[in-house]
Amino acid sequence: MRRLIIAGNWKMHKTVQQAVDFTKELASLAAGAGVEIVLCPPFTALHGVAEAARGTNIALGAQDVYWEDEGAFTGEISAPMLKEVGCQYVIVGHSERRRYFGETDETVNKKVKAVFKHGMTPVVCVGETLPEREAGRTEQVVRAQTEAALKGLDAEKVAGLVIAYEPVWAIGTGKTASAEDAQQVIAYIRGVIRELAGDSADKVRIQYGGSVKPENAAGLMSQPDIDGALVGGASLKPDSFAGIIKESGKV
Ligand code: 13P
Repeated sequence: MRRLIIAGNWKMHKTVQQAVDFTKELASLAAGAGVEIVLCPPFTALHGVAEAARGTNIALGAQDVYWEDEGAFTGEISAPMLKEVGCQYVIVGHSERRRYFGETDETVNKKVKAVFKHGMTPVVCVGETLPEREAGRTEQVVRAQTEAALKGLDAEKVAGLVIAYEPVWAIGTGKTASAEDAQQVIAYIRGVIRELAGDSADKVRIQYGGSVKPENAAGLMSQPDIDGALVGGASLKPDSFAGIIKESGKV
């Protein structure tokens, strides 16, 4: 059985103090939840959230990483740094990084390998834009992104991955993919992984992301191939994020 993983991607939100306060509140709201919980704060708040989450059921993730361990790369953060601060997960290839910061399929693959090298789990984001969906290219796009991200990984590593299917048109727009549409694309992605890594496809967890809220979480999570959610806006308030966790735990 694949355990549901509900992750909050805070993007560029929250000061250290706000992040710590949130974490303490969530820890009490989500105590005993039946799903895995991950918070991905901005880099500056990682340490504070790690301290506040100590001894709770909340795991820590980062929103990005650079693939070299150290060196003259001004402004970047490496995998050993994230590991040391307590990260277990690292989001790689979010569509906002692809769109605004020049992330490519190649850099995504380098980052995935760096995250594994340091004993953490990559959360690899894939997903089509609205023009791509309208042109009937969704499968082609998610296949290319998935194949590129997984290039050179052995089956054991693939089994340990988390993938987040985030249709770009559903991010921050309030337009959620229907549970059936999300299931269809996620099942397709699992099929691509089966071609690449055989039975590891049954172990890899694939999340849905894009306007997930407490009201639509259970419908999405009850689909057979959807193994969790990557939540943006609704992860910024303890009540709504805890609501998603609670609804998902009922599935
Ligand atoms: P929203 O939940 O705000 O649509 O964001 C989704 C997302 O991009 C999570 O990574």
